[in-house]
Amino acid sequence: MVVARSAAVVTILLAQCWSLQAHLAVWTKAMYGQDRPNINSNMAVQPLRDYTLKEWWWHGAMDDKPDAHEVFKLPAGGSASMEIADNKAFTSMGAHGMYPNPRKAPVPWNNTDNGWGNMHAVHRQDVAGCALGIAYKDKPEDVKPEDFAIFSVVHDCPARQLQSFEIPDLPKCPNGRCQCSWFWIHKSIGGTDQMYMTPFVCNVTNAKSTKKVGKAIPPVKCDTDPSKCVVGAKQPMYWMQKEGNNMFEPGHYAPTYSNAYNYKDGAQKDIFENGHAAGKKSTTKTKKKSKRGYKNRLD
Ligand SMILES: *[C@@H]1O[C@H](CO)[C@@H](O)[C@H](O)[C@H]1NC(C)=O
Ligand SMILES: *[C@@H]1O[C@H](CO)[C@@H](O)[C@H](O)[C@H]1NC(C)=O
Repeated sequence: MVVARSAAVVTILLAQCWSLQAHLAVWTKAMYGQDRPNINSNMAVQPLRDYTLKEWWWHGAMDDKPDAHEVFKLPAGGSASMEIADNKAFTSMGAHGMYPNPRKAPVPWNNTDNGWGNMHAVHRQDVAGCALGIAYKDKPEDVKPEDFAIFSVVHDCPARQLQSFEIPDLPKCPNGRCQCSWFWIHKSIGGTDQMYMTPFVCNVTNAKSTKKVGKAIPPVKCDTDPSKCVVGAKQPMYWMQKEGNNMFEPGHYAPTYSNAYNYKDGAQKDIFENGHAAGKKSTTKTKKKSKRGYKNRLD
């Protein structure tokens, strides 16, 4: 993708990408970047690569806010389903709606014309994993990249139009709202290295626990050395941008929401501890007392 030099250029580039390739986003009325005037919008699905922090953060859609009353509900200890599509048209927010059997992965798997979009997975086993992150801030303007903690992961995603995500025992949100985002990085075999982000307003319902989410840190690839695994709260993976990366894998080595980075499938039950290297003790308590935050690795 061409390197964009300003937000205006990005908008034009995104517009031109439309007819070239189909990508994916989650769709909810609580999302940012809904592009309300366009019932066939695919603005939200545009992949992120080679952008400045200002360009990629919040998918560039902080100002296209959802209606004030729209919140995506996350029942603590339960599950929530999200619609995934390459165009608003193929969701409950569009004219066409979802294809039949939205909870089933396409058979045969062909990734060219599977009925609902390009999933950047050449073979069935190339599906890389997607994730939801939460920030305990009620205003999007207050959220920094290191504030998101990944709370739910589906290794076999994206593969279904309607995808269920397990929710851990999250505590309630400040002033009845949190900020969430969907994240996805496909394997390098699936095409151009890039990342995806769809931010939305969320709210934890049925919260029974008051245990706070720990301070998240970036994961570390640890499939060949489990002692390197990060346990506890983990940040989303920010990769392949001009600025704001927290992952530094070279091109063709896409980091994924998988066991290789110690993102377990399902609800992230270790999210209540500060992120730390396996084998080392969690520093949740001392951090709380000293009020010293994790120094982030964003460049
Ligand atoms: C892809 O799969 C769909 C059914 O899911 C089928 O209708 C279509 O013909 C297939 N395309 C190719 C190129 O195999
Ligand atoms: C969020 O959930 C809490 C607990 O159910 C509720 O009191 C609050 O009104 C909700 N916030 C919004 C904006 O709906």
